[in-house]
Amino acid sequence: MTIQPEFKNAATLTFLELVKSRRTYYDLKAESAITDEAIESIVRDSVLHVPSSFNTQTSRIVLLLKEEHQKVWDVALNALEGLVTAGVVPKEQFEGSTKPKLESFRAAYGTVLFFVDFESLAPIKEKFAIYADKFDPFAIESNAMSQYLIWVALQSEGLGANLQHYSPLIDEQVAKTWNIPASWKLDAQLVFGTPTSEPGEKAFAPIQDRFKVFGK
Ligand SMILES: Cc1cc2nc3c(=O)[nH]c(=O)nc-3n(C[C@H](O)[C@H](O)[C@H](O)COP(=O)(O)O)c2cc1C
Repeated sequence: MTIQPEFKNAATLTFLELVKSRRTYYDLKAESAITDEAIESIVRDSVLHVPSSFNTQTSRIVLLLKEEHQKVWDVALNALEGLVTAGVVPKEQFEGSTKPKLESFRAAYGTVLFFVDFESLAPIKEKFAIYADKFDPFAIESNAMSQYLIWVALQSEGLGANLQHYSPLIDEQVAKTWNIPASWKLDAQLVFGTPTSEPGEKAFAPIQDRFKVFGK
């Protein structure tokens, strides 16, 4: 049964429609219908306004556009080529699957690099020793909220995105290339650009197995 709720604020429905339409887009080209300033503004808002536990503000973000974006995927291509040379990754696998995939990321418009500064948590871990082991996972959860917000907002502006994880393989070269502080730990890479194909069908596991409501 589909519930047709009534919301007081029309923006709520719009917001939820954006949430529902966000998908993973793999085929992206190096074009953007919005300005770099608009993209930058989305990323800046996520850095400022996404919540973090105890307001620790542990997320660090780097926005790479155009040629700078291409560099990160050259780093990944080189790193994986190195693994082929070292005999860790079979050459056929690299040529037939990994390389075309990385080249497709490179063909996009930009990449958002998401880092977590775990070291900045040292004082609060000491202050709230009882929660000490919770702060690192909280920091990753907060980082994920930024990833999601940017993903949804970029799609709302006509861009498509996919989320990648090439850490720790690319960490050293990324840190060197963009002079990243040593305490910033790379978590995820959000690749974005103008979609050139639609995402595939998506299956949904039964909602009744995943959601319960009481007291209605
Ligand atoms: C935490 C998380 C990690 C993910 N990691 C990857 C990844 O490393 N590579 C990738 O291609 N997609 C990755 N994805 C994308 C998921 O596969 C995708 O979101 C999921 O299949 C649902 O499809 P949709 O995004 O089109 O709704 C990740 C998604 C999440 C939420």
